[in-house]
Amino acid sequence: MRVLVTGATGMLGRAVVSDLLANRHAVVAMSRRSRRRPGVESALADLTDGSGLDDAVRGTHAIVHLASAPYQRGYTDEVEVAGTRRLLAAAATAGVKHVVYTSIVGADLVPWGYFGTKMQAEAIIRESPVPWSILRSTQFHDFVDQALTTMSRLPFAVSDRGVVGQPIDVRDVAKRLTRQLVEGPSLDVEQCGGPEVLTFDQVIRQWQDLRDVRKPILHVRIPGKLGKGFRNGGATTSDRTGRITWKQYLTEKDL
Ligand SMILES: NC(=O)c1ccc[n+]([C@@H]2O[C@H](COP(=O)([O-])OP(=O)(O)OC[C@H]3O[C@@H](n4cnc5c(N)ncnc54)[C@H](OP(=O)(O)O)[C@@H]3O)[C@@H](O)[C@H]2O)c1
Repeated sequence: MRVLVTGATGMLGRAVVSDLLANRHAVVAMSRRSRRRPGVESALADLTDGSGLDDAVRGTHAIVHLASAPYQRGYTDEVEVAGTRRLLAAAATAGVKHVVYTSIVGADLVPWGYFGTKMQAEAIIRESPVPWSILRSTQFHDFVDQALTTMSRLPFAVSDRGVVGQPIDVRDVAKRLTRQLVEGPSLDVEQCGGPEVLTFDQVIRQWQDLRDVRKPILHVRIPGKLGKGFRNGGATTSDRTGRITWKQYLTEKDL
């Protein structure tokens, strides 16, 4: 199958390209910059103005749509909402048979700004004439690792005791996406979660142990519906697609 991957240079995108290649699919990797990766065709395109999209989608059977720009205000909407609309219009014209979109577990439950943007993009996918599948994933290990690395500049870590998450490895999400492509459009929203539900305190402590960091945890209570959403497990799922635990990820990364 010839597959276009948007966001191919991102955390999940790199793992998806590797998994597709391992399963002998032909990959077109989309980026705003010219990049070379052995065995991969590259497509230069920008979702914010639509440049390059027609060429990128031409001759592809399916699209794994991963491009995003979270927490950048208007630019986020341009990429995720208007950009998704532009991509789908180009895909419909080119006769693409399947688009797979990655959203976030809890996007429909937790009132967090970026999650609202994901719901708008999901609606565009659902209304598109291109047959579709949506996979909502929990937070990626790499993303949590980056956030904790940034937080480690402070003299303490900050946590809400009640918040629970279910981090997942991008390699596990990538396998699930490849399977989804082979199975074809589900016209449904599926969930994909890591192997264990952890409190945010546990996530921090495991990170600190393996990074040999000793800093106190300052406990705060996230106010309102946002805090309630995260404390009630809004960002977790009964799905246990993920095999690689947070501890395994951290151990492997430190080797
Ligand atoms: N991070 C998480 O924990 C998490 C959890 C659940 C779901 N997700 C979802 O999974 C998907 C992938 O997330 P990620 O964290 O792997 O992303 P990421 O590492 O932030 O990468 C973002 C990608 O988007 C591309 N991009 C940004 N602006 C673009 C534009 N204007 N036109 C075309 N491409 C553009 C970038 O490509 P270039 O810079 O090369 O152009 C890059 O490859 C997203 O839909 C995200 O919402 C993420």
